[in-house]
Amino acid sequence: MWDEYFTGKSVVVGGGSTGIGAAAVEQFARAGAHVVIADVADEIGTTLARSLSSKGNHAVYRHCDVSSEADVEGVFSWVDATYGSLDVLYANAGIEWTKDVRHTTLDEWQRVVDVNLTGMFLVCRAAMRRMCDQGFGSIVVTSSPHAIATVPDAGAYAASKGGAHALVRSLALEGAPYGVRVNGIIPGTIDTPMVRREAQASSDPEEQLARMASAHPLGRIGQPFEVAAAALFLASPLASFMTGSMVTVDGGLMSGLPAGPPLSYNN
Ligand SMILES: NC(=O)c1ccc[n+]([C@@H]2O[C@H](COP(=O)([O-])OP(=O)(O)OC[C@H]3O[C@@H](n4cnc5c(N)ncnc54)[C@H](O)[C@@H]3O)[C@@H](O)[C@H]2O)c1
Repeated sequence: MWDEYFTGKSVVVGGGSTGIGAAAVEQFARAGAHVVIADVADEIGTTLARSLSSKGNHAVYRHCDVSSEADVEGVFSWVDATYGSLDVLYANAGIEWTKDVRHTTLDEWQRVVDVNLTGMFLVCRAAMRRMCDQGFGSIVVTSSPHAIATVPDAGAYAASKGGAHALVRSLALEGAPYGVRVNGIIPGTIDTPMVRREAQASSDPEEQLARMASAHPLGRIGQPFEVAAAALFLASPLASFMTGSMVTVDGGLMSGLPAGPPLSYNN
């Protein structure tokens, strides 16, 4: 279905070893793209690349801590040398964090911001430099509902994702004159290793997952492929008039108030 848009295109997926990123890697690769998995989970990412390659798809793994300028430059230089141009960046790498601000150390705060926001800046900057020079390209980033409405004990994570929204707007304006589009995705709760880790940290993981599911009007949590599909859409020419958009893929989560309507009406 996506072949006509992605065959032979070069795609970098930051945070592509597991979860949402891995689903996007699979969908881009199956659509005929040359996919670079840029991640720190070396073993899982290498296995994913090998598995896709063994089926005739094009995927390679490159170690890249997105918070390291040297790592990021290394991956994008490799893309220059190998493919000659860059069509798509999916900036998806992220880490979770749960602690109240009063007890968050500067190092802990810094690590979350380094990966989730500075890492996004570094990969987006590398892509923007190339895409603006070549006059085409599409960037998609993964944000979070926490950028808009959050819960207690998520200060560093929420702040890092709020920054992602502001960065998307800035990049969209800077890229537009060059034909470069930049959009973001706000996933609801998605069944990934990150969410499984969060559930495991609670006293009753199954109950926690059920509560997460019930918070979504569609009555379930999402699957990684459902977010990946939105990433492919935004990266494709089908979204040619979209830039600076933040698209929710959240089963209706952000449409409602937690306790339902605040007033009872005459019906
Ligand atoms: N799962 C959800 O419910 C959910 C909801 C909203 C937003 N998100 C966001 O979606 C993105 C993907 O999360 P996920 O749920 O698939 O989690 P995940 O933990 O399965 O995937 C995150 C990926 O990022 C990689 N990564 C972590 N630190 C990195 C670094 N410094 N450099 C490069 N790669 C790094 C991990 O190795 C992993 O492959 C994250 O940005 C997350 O904040 C997830």
